[in-house]
Amino acid sequence: MSVTELRPAGASTAVVRLTSASLLQKKRAQVPIVALTAYDYATARLVDEAGIDMVLVGDSLAMVVLGYDSTLPVTVDEMLHHTQAVARGLRRAFLVADMPYGSYHVSEEDALRNALRFIKDAGAQAVKIEGGQTRASLVRQLTDAEIPVVGHIGLTPQSVHSMGGYKVQGRTWEAYDRLCRDAEALEAAGAVAIVLEGIPRELAARITGQVGIPTIGIGAGPGCDGQILVFHDLFNLTFAPHAKFARQYGDAAAFFGAALASYREDVAQHRFPSDAESYHLPREMRTELEMLEPAASHG
Ligand code: KIV
Repeated sequence: MSVTELRPAGASTAVVRLTSASLLQKKRAQVPIVALTAYDYATARLVDEAGIDMVLVGDSLAMVVLGYDSTLPVTVDEMLHHTQAVARGLRRAFLVADMPYGSYHVSEEDALRNALRFIKDAGAQAVKIEGGQTRASLVRQLTDAEIPVVGHIGLTPQSVHSMGGYKVQGRTWEAYDRLCRDAEALEAAGAVAIVLEGIPRELAARITGQVGIPTIGIGAGPGCDGQILVFHDLFNLTFAPHAKFARQYGDAAAFFGAALASYREDVAQHRFPSDAESYHLPREMRTELEMLEPAASHG
């Protein structure tokens, strides 16, 4: 077996954990908030050690990790499983978990019970829910139960059917005004931040100036308080054409593809494993074996 070292030897223990208050401070100081998704222990470690401020266990994991064609099928138990793994990998970043479709749509009581599981059982510091004015009462309830809530408005992937596809939102005056009111309602209800997804940059900048809580944009232009991207978009791991806003910072698909081809060839050509990559019997046993079974000792 291979062993994952849980913490680097000698790593400092004096890491300060970011909170919703840290994000607010950054907004006030006009220091950009850097956010990214993560879905497992290894990527959480990389993202945290790179100094990313906020990590979201997004329900995008339904698509990029579990292979579904939308975010709708992922369950609370699946989200909890991944959130727990990410929580074990983080020391500094503020950890937000997405509440999946159906987990906050039946009743506020049901939503509260599900949200508590993300905090109590999985180690999330906040939950994220999609929707604006229609979620204000729920945001208030969760906030009253000491659960920090990140809102999410604009292109909300859980509404793919009611939106009629993944389309940029807020491009009519009516939609523009509604999204401004959504942001206001979330802030008034106690949300600690708002994700703005798939909206014109002018609208995102307007909302960012209008609310006192941080806005984190994805496909919402540079005028937000912070930016978030999906980990797999950053590294070309989605097997799909990338959206205009999803800048690629590395080509892990090419890297893994080349490494996998080398591994396959090395095994096929008897180049792996080498003698140095093999365990040996103790020297005396090898000597005895050479005398007893000369052929076997060179296997
Ligand atoms: O699920 C997700 O990854 C998200 C981000 C795109 C904000 O909600």
